[in-house]
Amino acid sequence: MRSLALSCLAGTLLLSTVSLARADETTLARGEYLTRLGNCQGCHTRPDGAPFAGGVAFDTPFGRLYSSNITPDRQQGLGDWTVEEFRRALHQGLGRNGEQLYPAFPYTAYTRLSDEDVAAIFAFLQVQRPVPYAPPANALRFPFDQRALIRGWKWLNFTPGPLHALADAKVARGAYLAEAVGHCQECHTPRTWSQGLDRDRAYAGATQQGWTAWNLTSDQRGLGGWSDAKLASYLREGHQRGEAVAAGPMAEVVSGGTRYLHDADLGALVAYLRTLPAKPGAVPARAEVQPPGEGGSLNAAEAESAALLQSACASCHSPDDRGPAGPYPKSFSNYSAVRDPSGTNLVRVLLDGIDRQGRTEHAFMPAYRDLLSDQQLADLANYIGRHFGGHAADLRPADVAAAREQEK
Ligand code: HEC
Ligand code: HEC
Ligand code: HEC
Repeated sequence: MRSLALSCLAGTLLLSTVSLARADETTLARGEYLTRLGNCQGCHTRPDGAPFAGGVAFDTPFGRLYSSNITPDRQQGLGDWTVEEFRRALHQGLGRNGEQLYPAFPYTAYTRLSDEDVAAIFAFLQVQRPVPYAPPANALRFPFDQRALIRGWKWLNFTPGPLHALADAKVARGAYLAEAVGHCQECHTPRTWSQGLDRDRAYAGATQQGWTAWNLTSDQRGLGGWSDAKLASYLREGHQRGEAVAAGPMAEVVSGGTRYLHDADLGALVAYLRTLPAKPGAVPARAEVQPPGEGGSLNAAEAESAALLQSACASCHSPDDRGPAGPYPKSFSNYSAVRDPSGTNLVRVLLDGIDRQGRTEHAFMPAYRDLLSDQQLADLANYIGRHFGGHAADLRPADVAAAREQEK
């Protein structure tokens, strides 16, 4: 009798630990999913550093700032934090001792996260490997090194709390993914004089850190002409073959975040982006382009670029649209980076290449930073812009030299 009672008890205990472990696993999986789309790892991991240990440098107009260690290390990281303190950091931009945090940490977005999701992210971070690394001290100019000043910035630019409720459940989920977790506006919305997001031009496109994040509104210069399938493919794989490419910071967003999105969430995100009211942006709509045909008259610089395209690039591309279709885009006519007369992203792609992991496909293009001169790269970008982007690009070697100086 007694042993039966005991084994029953043991059975119940066993059952309850099993269900506990299960609940935890669901929370951890959810925390991992959100952490990916929120790109916490990207901003909190140095190029050769341990995951989440911080120390990534952010160059602002006011000086240099470093991200924090968010591993569970008890001295340097979040090991001794409570979930309540963590929630206050994400929802209110306040450190453990109530100090103001710089908005390079996008709490303007994370303030919209539900308490449950904040707890899941915290649970996931707490089971990562603790790393006793101390990020360097910030190098901000006076008075920007005074954290108390952030209070004024918040007064102008920060509205804490959840998103407004939306009637359509799918669009509401998409809004949550874009606004609360994915912080898409941080790069795609222009800034005001005080470095806040310019809500009147939400998603109209912006240039920061040497890259232009394109207009995502339904304007023809934005995503107006994109099908749902193309948009979903771009977010899942980082490209739509022959039409659009994610490089630079957007390649990181895809590799670290959107490629992991479940199909239902991907559909919701696309549905939400569709609702963004059209705003004019700086980049022109698709142009009619005429790839250079045989016997066209090219000046000396153009002839040299055409030859370079053949010798350096034709193993992967076939920009004159001849050649076999392979795993790489044959041509790049009308890609956003090619269509933009300022050539900002085009020069960056040529300097730094592409290394991007989509849900199933990997994209690699070499960096030409050390292989081609400023003059060669400027000529090449002008040639590509003119013949595949339909504009009279006029980049000078000095523009390429300036782009080289940007953080990679
Ligand atoms: C765009 C870059 C960026 C992203 C994305 C980002 N962070 Fe940060 N985070 C920072 C920077 C920079 C700081 C340092 C702010 C400061 O010192 O005032 C910081 C600070 C923090 C802090 C405060 C730590 C402390 O010791 O006070 C926490 C907690 C934190 N981040 C968690 C997260 C989590 C969780 C995510 C993902 C949901 C995330 N961060 C995503 C840049 C980022
Ligand atoms: C860290 C900055 C950053 C964040 C965050 C970011 N983007 Fe981007 N995005 C960019 C940049 C830069 C480009 C241009 C990439 C290129 O030309 O190769 C881009 C390009 C795009 C494009 C292609 C547009 C076109 O016309 O070619 C889409 C679509 C897009 N982003 C959607 C999103 C969504 C949705 C989110 C949020 C989940 C997001 N982005 C978050 C920087 C960002
Ligand atoms: C090893 C193969 C490889 C080589 C060599 C290569 N590329 Fe690429 N290129 C790629 C891949 C992969 C992509 C991205 C394709 C995708 O995402 O669908 C790309 C994309 C591009 C784009 C579109 C970028 C954008 O953001 O829209 C341009 C322009 C381009 N390459 C130009 C060149 C030029 C010019 C050269 C030679 C100097 C070159 N490529 C050499 C593989 C290569």
